[in-house]
Amino acid sequence: MLVTVGGSEAIDIALRAMVDPGDEVLIPQPSYVSYEPCAVLAGAKPVIIELKHENQFRLTAQELEDAITDKTKILILPFPNNPTGAIMERKDLEAIAEVILKHDLFVLSDEIYAELCYTEKHVSIVNIDGMRERTILINGFSKSHAMTGWRLGYACGPKEIIEQMYKIHQFCIMCAPTTSQYAAIDALKNGDEDVQMMREAYNQRRRYLVHAFQEMKLECFEPFGAFYIFPCIREFGLTSDEFATRFLNEEKVAVVPGTAFGDCGEGFIRISYAYSLEKLKIAMEKLEHFINRLRAEK
Ligand SMILES: Cc1ncc(COP(=O)(O)O)c(C=O)c1O
Repeated sequence: MLVTVGGSEAIDIALRAMVDPGDEVLIPQPSYVSYEPCAVLAGAKPVIIELKHENQFRLTAQELEDAITDKTKILILPFPNNPTGAIMERKDLEAIAEVILKHDLFVLSDEIYAELCYTEKHVSIVNIDGMRERTILINGFSKSHAMTGWRLGYACGPKEIIEQMYKIHQFCIMCAPTTSQYAAIDALKNGDEDVQMMREAYNQRRRYLVHAFQEMKLECFEPFGAFYIFPCIREFGLTSDEFATRFLNEEKVAVVPGTAFGDCGEGFIRISYAYSLEKLKIAMEKLEHFINRLRAEK
């Protein structure tokens, strides 16, 4: 295991330690913004797998199989997912693991939202037979403990890979801040109840938003993890960017266009529910005004 400056550092140095120039890295999208640039910086060729709304934005074994070439080295597994809130259940992971083993690939499993699953306990791909030896698992304290500014994450994986990551870490960073490491030890020893309390609060906000979108008749698949919701805005005939910009200008509420997370995010917006229920209710009222106006314009 290696303690890093956030999950961000772990993603970067894992890729730099593992890829050779020209290797292909499979990146399911929509997903977190750093995978693709980090793969490029590491000298790899990013290969995008477009996750589908009709599959609840999960990765299927067939989609994975179709993307593999003789240059593929690593699959990035971004679940629970930012921005969609999608999760992978054990049966989904078992199917993925079968393909990974068949093609002798590695997995970079970004599980930074593992503690924020609302319907069932998070399952890690490392718990599937044969995967521990070929998976780098990434987690951290930014999401589970809302300690983003403390910049603390970690990577777990096979000794041979962690040793190579350690070389980069040692010369670029030296070490993750020791003050943050002491704070994290305390969070691990005494913070379980707070994590549980926040999970319940996020779940309440999640259920409120799913219900609010149903009332507004805005198409939205139910997210089961992370703290994002990803409604579809195609009915308005605007791009995600146009929708987000007009919503910001006209109602002073910021959402992120789905395209920030890959081209296949077109037609969606990401809403974070890491805000209080009171604030979310105000934002939802404004969203309702806005979409009523757009519907009237049509
Ligand atoms: C999926 C995912 N991975 C990693 C990170 C990076 O987190 P940090 O570097 O704060 O640990 C984020 C931050 O938003 C994220 O959403």
